[in-house]
Amino acid sequence: MRKKIVAGNWKMNKNLAETKTLLSELKTNLQKAREAEVIVAPTAVNLYMATEELQQVDIKVAAQNMHQAENGAYTGEISADMLKRVGVETVILGHSERRAYFGETDELLASKVSKALQHDMTVIFCFGEELQDRKSDNHFAIVENQLKNGLFHINTEDWKNVVLAYEPVWAIGTGETASPEQAQEMHAFIRNTIAKAYTQQIADEVSILYGGSVKPNNANEIFAKPDVDGGLIGGASLDAESFVAIVNAF
Ligand code: 13P
Repeated sequence: MRKKIVAGNWKMNKNLAETKTLLSELKTNLQKAREAEVIVAPTAVNLYMATEELQQVDIKVAAQNMHQAENGAYTGEISADMLKRVGVETVILGHSERRAYFGETDELLASKVSKALQHDMTVIFCFGEELQDRKSDNHFAIVENQLKNGLFHINTEDWKNVVLAYEPVWAIGTGETASPEQAQEMHAFIRNTIAKAYTQQIADEVSILYGGSVKPNNANEIFAKPDVDGGLIGGASLDAESFVAIVNAF
């Protein structure tokens, strides 16, 4: 079933004390009866504390990254099993910052996706074009390739554990958001691409989030588009009031 989701990607922000404060503000201020599922992705050292804090509430915790190997000599890395053992069932993979600053390729991401799914985790798979791709009208081809190379090796049954996040790189942290029409156009293209590669049912059931400068003042019109099922929020998820307002924009 297609779900509405609002996820906060906190990136490398919020130390232990700040994470505790933000979590407790979210617990207090997020309405119980809301339309959207809520996910927060604190930095790795605070994941365990976050899953403990959120045990009794309906807010999920996601990791921002994960290694593709089961375990072994990979200094500084974190495995799927380690995440699961601290209560983390969801992982963000393929964020453009990981692609740009940490050299994550489609091929590497494909193996991370496989490992996460093997552990029955939910993957929030991120992708999106850069500004020059859009200017040269290459954005559809770029997105199609990112999907094909990073994700389309998965089995039909695996799609129930996949959420997509279309994040045009030019809109991330820039204050410049895709227009609701641009988001809708791309989300419809993504759904169509999935329908062609898999089935119409899978395409209809997968949640496709938009990410890139979503704020309380623009969330409503973006989320109103038929193929936009929610948002992956960066900057505006660091403040409880603005994140709650975005969650309530549905
Ligand atoms: P901003 O909302 O800060 O543009 O970040 C979006 C993002 O990268 C979420 O993953």
